[in-house]
Amino acid sequence: MFDPEVRAIEPDLIHWRRHLHQHPEVSFEETQTTLWLEQRLREMGIDAIDRPTKTGLVAHIFGTKPGKPAVVAFRADIDALPMQEENDLPYASANDGAMHACGHDGHAAMLLALARMLHEHRESFCGEARLIFQHAEELPPGGAIELVRAGALEGAEAVLGLHLSSGFETGMFALKEGVLTSNVDRFTVTVTGRGGHCAFPEQCADPLLAASEIVTALQTIVSRRIPANEPAVVSVCEFHAGTAYNIIPNEAVLNASVRSFGAQTRQLIEREARTICESVAAAHGCTARLDWYDGYPSVVNDAKLTAEAERVIAERFGAAQTQTIGVIMPGEDFSYMLAGRPGFFVELGTRNAEKQTDAPHHNPRYRLDEDALVYGVQYQYDFARALLDGTRRFWEDQA
Ligand code: NI
Repeated sequence: MFDPEVRAIEPDLIHWRRHLHQHPEVSFEETQTTLWLEQRLREMGIDAIDRPTKTGLVAHIFGTKPGKPAVVAFRADIDALPMQEENDLPYASANDGAMHACGHDGHAAMLLALARMLHEHRESFCGEARLIFQHAEELPPGGAIELVRAGALEGAEAVLGLHLSSGFETGMFALKEGVLTSNVDRFTVTVTGRGGHCAFPEQCADPLLAASEIVTALQTIVSRRIPANEPAVVSVCEFHAGTAYNIIPNEAVLNASVRSFGAQTRQLIEREARTICESVAAAHGCTARLDWYDGYPSVVNDAKLTAEAERVIAERFGAAQTQTIGVIMPGEDFSYMLAGRPGFFVELGTRNAEKQTDAPHHNPRYRLDEDALVYGVQYQYDFARALLDGTRRFWEDQA
């Protein structure tokens, strides 16, 4: 089932993962992590290493197989979360207030193992495998967009990502073609009126009343503007106005969260929200300003790459090791790497109730089943060689 050489790398893989787990660094502060990763890569004999951002790292591995070369990028995020670990493990976090509670330690360790496999088997692929160790996935604006702007993805014809997930049994690959993750956006509405004495409302323009009607009207976006089979959420979660019981205030401020899937729904929600805020405010003699803040956009999986991933996994582990899933709610900044090239992002299960690795991600008792790691390495190694086989069958009709 496993390539014996991939199996042989497992002790190192687990050792690397535990080192990373014990020494977590939060988003944008992954200095020691990146240094350590670079040392491991150089020990393997990999020299083509870039540091395009302060804490991100890119390794280029060039295959020597003859044929028509292609460039495929593999991305692992490397940052930890600002939280205190509650696990009693010999390799529990040694850094107070930081914890790898999302599996990114596993992602980075798997990419190191992939680096070694590809470097030792350069004859088995044609072109470039670009391994991207991405900082700051957990903190918007995130590390992915920085790396893209720094040119780390330039020339990459496809990009592949993977997330370990306690939502699926260990070793299970969860796949979805098309839109996978939600857009994670928010907006602020500032309603300005004309304040005054509570006893003379006719002399005022009441922003509190206008904002109240805006809160209600915003709920019609999902219920009356978006098709019923299209999931979306608009939640107004903050309402700030007023200073005393007898003063009509000048201003009311709302803060809202938005979740949607795909670019179209996202644009529609922003447009409708603006119209509602401005029109309702005007009806009450007030004005409204809506400031929209883009979070991570949806990850959209390429159909051909999804099908190829499914084939590669089934060939190696059997079709029972894959399952098709629906959309998932957490945001992922891998999406920024998909601008200008196809990509594919897979979830790999780490849940094993007997080993207590079934806690949710971002939980202080989150643990991952290390038995899953070797699956991730094997899959990425197989996928790399399938896409970089020198035939360019994947890219020729993509242009
Ligand atoms: Ni994560």
